[in-house]
Amino acid sequence: MNQSRPFKIIAIDGGAAVGKSSTAKGLAERLDMMHVDTGAHYRSLTHALLRAGADVSAPESTTAALAHLELETALVGRSAKLCIAGVVPTDAEIRSPEVNAAVSSFAAMPPLRTFLFEYQRNQANIARAKNFAGIIMEGRDIGSVIFPDADHRFFLYADEATRSARRAKEGQTDSIAARDQMDSRRKTAPLICPDGAIRIDTAPRSLEQVIETITRLIAPELL
Ligand code: C5P
Repeated sequence: MNQSRPFKIIAIDGGAAVGKSSTAKGLAERLDMMHVDTGAHYRSLTHALLRAGADVSAPESTTAALAHLELETALVGRSAKLCIAGVVPTDAEIRSPEVNAAVSSFAAMPPLRTFLFEYQRNQANIARAKNFAGIIMEGRDIGSVIFPDADHRFFLYADEATRSARRAKEGQTDSIAARDQMDSRRKTAPLICPDGAIRIDTAPRSLEQVIETITRLIAPELL
């Protein structure tokens, strides 16, 4: 890894199942960057909160449970994972039907978002310290709230039929439309296409084509 290259922050936002994670991982590999899936942060917290007996309809129970959670970062390959009380929850745990059903309700709670804000901003310092060429962070509010100062901001989208077919192929039960509706309508950090972000329709493109489109815009010298 080369320390003299300029460090870049890339924000990728979009609704459920638009292809953010596959794109972000592929780009991280190609551009030697650290990848952060913030959807996994909200899922991991939801899993921990449900286990602690927190109830979305009783916000005090969530605030009380959050006070006991200690967050760290574990680097797995190029992906930075949220580690809660020393443990990275498994994919099966954070992508369960229970978490799918509750995550958007927890994610709409301002105290939970505030709890994650510094942790997420600090991921850039971790990526710098580990000598990555940059950070690629994906989510719903990355270009609007977490890194409005990102070097590049992208907004991915796709029609609903394509997105449902993708989840079905992954063998997942997920209420894509319901989550998108809640995520877009919440007051705090709603899912939006940030002003100035580049919009990419992933439905007519293969994963490789999406990665290539973005690479062409941020690092054409690599093509
Ligand atoms: O990306 P993924 O679909 O795994 O995200 C799960 C949920 O986490 C979203 O539906 C949303 O409610 C929440 N989320 C969020 N802000 C982010 C990333 C995810 O509110 N930056």
